[in-house]
Amino acid sequence: MKIEFSGQTVLVTGAASGFGLEIAAAFSERGATVYACDLAEEKLKETQKQIGGAGKSSIVDVTRRDEVEKWVQAAWSDTGRIDVLVNNAGGVLGQVGKPVEVVSVSEWEAIVAVNQNAVFWTSQAVSPAMKEARSGRIINISSGAGLGISKTGIQAYASAKAGQIGLTRQLAHELGPWGVTVNSVAPGFVLSNSSTERQWEALGSDGQKKLLDEIALGHLGSPSDIAHTVLFLASKQAGWISGIVLPVDGGK
Ligand SMILES: NC(=O)c1ccc[n+]([C@@H]2O[C@H](COP(=O)([O-])OP(=O)(O)OC[C@H]3O[C@@H](n4cnc5c(N)ncnc54)[C@H](O)[C@@H]3O)[C@@H](O)[C@H]2O)c1
Repeated sequence: MKIEFSGQTVLVTGAASGFGLEIAAAFSERGATVYACDLAEEKLKETQKQIGGAGKSSIVDVTRRDEVEKWVQAAWSDTGRIDVLVNNAGGVLGQVGKPVEVVSVSEWEAIVAVNQNAVFWTSQAVSPAMKEARSGRIINISSGAGLGISKTGIQAYASAKAGQIGLTRQLAHELGPWGVTVNSVAPGFVLSNSSTERQWEALGSDGQKKLLDEIALGHLGSPSDIAHTVLFLASKQAGWISGIVLPVDGGK
């Protein structure tokens, strides 16, 4: 099976590091014109190198509906199409687990804003282009926490990712008649950046062994495991798959 995206316009959020960078580079290598966005200006320079001259990296806060709308409109008017949207921006924003009664409004809202609300803003913004073309792919990066619990005890993260999964199913039904598929990838724990490296170190050898023992394949995955899954769901070969949540976690 040869998967390629020549002539296609692909939007990736949170593309300055981790999975997003890997995903943006993987689409670019396979011929797509990639529009990458993130808040991290310095790191986006590396993304720009990876996505080459045809691609464009931009500073966009995906929690801001107005910024998202401008970014999507620019990609549509530059290229005349939007084939794929990957909602990858998210995470726990450096937060740690706390007892429910002491979580502040701003801590709760910040995580919900990027992991759930932003997916709604971007999906709204790409829908006119995808409906007009009667085709499109939306892929949301959720988490094992959205199917179960946040192992680090972050209530907003588990809630927002579960909400994002609900939105995935709902939009799959709404947009399906226009030939648009909407799916979710739920990664297990992956060393994707310096903060996941620190989380891994903090587990200590007993904690690391326990985590590995819970994985059927007995080892951690890599950002490319996530990127390859996204490429498949975005491909024409995955045209009859919609509304699913695909765990990519080495087996539970
Ligand atoms: N690494 C893991 O183990 C793991 C597991 C399950 C799910 N995930 C999910 O995968 C996605 C990527 O995670 P990662 O590990 O690569 O993390 P990461 O922190 O390396 O990447 C997330 C990117 O999103 C960007 N971002 C955050 N807020 C933003 C905003 N408001 N607007 C635009 N960009 C913003 C960050 O700057 C960062 O570059 C996240 O949604 C995360 O929840 C990660």
